[in-house]
Order: sequence, then structure tokens, then C-alpha cells
Amino acid sequence: MTAELPSAPLITDERNGLIYVQYSSAKEDVYLDPIRSLISKDLSEPYSIYVFRYFLFQWGDLCFMALDAKTHDLRGVVVCKLEYHRSGTYRGYIAMLAVEEEFRGKGIATSLVQSSILSMKEKGADEVILETEVTNTASLRLYQRLGFLRTKRLHRYYLNGNTAFRLALYLKEGVSLKEPRDDLNPHMMDQYYDE
Ligand SMILES: CC(C)(COP(=O)(O)OP(=O)(O)OC[C@H]1O[C@@H](n2cnc3c(N)ncnc32)[C@H](O)[C@@H]1OP(=O)(O)O)[C@@H](O)C(=O)NCCC(=O)NCCS
Repeated sequence: MTAELPSAPLITDERNGLIYVQYSSAKEDVYLDPIRSLISKDLSEPYSIYVFRYFLFQWGDLCFMALDAKTHDLRGVVVCKLEYHRSGTYRGYIAMLAVEEEFRGKGIATSLVQSSILSMKEKGADEVILETEVTNTASLRLYQRLGFLRTKRLHRYYLNGNTAFRLALYLKEGVSLKEPRDDLNPHMMDQYYDE
């Protein structure tokens, strides 16, 4: 695959031979299937094509991809949305994140998530939310390092019966007070500092 990129890459990572681009800056649909197959590899129940279209067609500018600098093959992707939540906050949501197995541990997911947070912040987001499995050490470590708090434990949240943590990054002062904060519950604090 050597898909043409109509706009310049946002970031060039020469050490790892990667470029970072927005989905919406790439030719439409070229990366839909590669994104779908990369994300689906690590899911117990793959999302339908409509789920991908829902996110990518509305918030393609909040989807960031790490591509091989020469071949433009997909190495990693983050898929997000940004909309008003019933609590009144302008809420960013990280829906999907995946990096090809042989390219993990090089900071690719960190760069992707940082790009998406920066973009949501520029658009006025109050907070960024996501869910991840309680056993997903790499993901928990990554988000914890970026300043996310564990706000809820969601028992048997996933279809496979696994439990999730809801994580939140508060981008503006006072936003976190609009919703109950489980991370102020001592039980959750124990889990937060338990690693
Ligand atoms: C989670 C995932 C996206 C991370 O991608 P990545 O590019 O390797 O991430 P980074 O290199 O930026 O950072 C990963 C962090 O986790 C750590 N890590 C990786 N594997 C780990 C493991 N098995 N145990 C503990 N920590 C681990 C890394 O050391 C790094 O932390 P550090 O920088 O503090 O040392 C990747 O593992 C993946 O695609 N997993 C499958 C899909 C998934 O779980 N997505 C997240 C759903 S919310």
C-alpha cells in the first residue's frame, strides 16, 4: 500500500521511520479497511463497519494514524469523537486505540493519544474519557502517565464479561466537579496507587 497523502504529515518520527497523519487528510476511505483490521485483531467481538464509519466520517479530524514513512502502511491508530455530554461538558472520547504488535513499546500509542488530546483541547474540550479493561496493563500505564484518573469501575462492561475502568483527563478547572468522582472513593484510590 502506498496511499497518496494530500497534506504534509503532522509529525515525522525519523528514528522509527514513521509519519503521523490525520485520517481526514488522507484520501477518503483508503485507510478504512486497514484501520478496521488493525483494531479488530485485539477485540473479542469485532465492531461492524458502521461503527467505524460513525466515528471516521464525523470525526475524521480526531483520528490520527502512524504510517510507515515509505510505504504508508498503517502501524497504529487512535479513533475519537467530541460532543456535548448530558452533564453539559464538551466531552472528548477515545473510542479505539491500537498499534501493530511488532511496533509496540516505541511510544507510538503515546504520540497518537497526545495528538488526539491536543486536537480536542484546541477544539475546546472540557475533558477526555475512555474505557479500558482492568487487565490491560499497557493501556493503563500509558493513560496514567498522560494524567488520566480512574473514575469508575464498570463491572462486566465488555461482551466477553471483562470489567473496565473508566478513565478521565480533565482539561479545564472545575469540570471534574460536575459529575460524581469515584476516584475520590478510597477503594478506587487503592487501585490507582497499587501498581
Ligand atoms: C495499548 C497499546 C495501544 C500501546 O501501544 P504502544 O505503542 O506499545 O504504547 P507506548 O509505547 O506508547 O506505551 C506503552 C506503555 O505500556 C508499557 N507496556 C507495554 N506492554 C506492557 C506490559 N505487558 N506490561 C506493563 N507495561 C507495558 C510500556 O512500557 C509503555 O509504558 P512506559 O512508557 O511508561 O514504559 C498496544 O499495546 C495495543 O495496541 N494493544 C492492543 C489494543 C489495546 O489494548 N488498545 C487499548 C484499548 S483502550
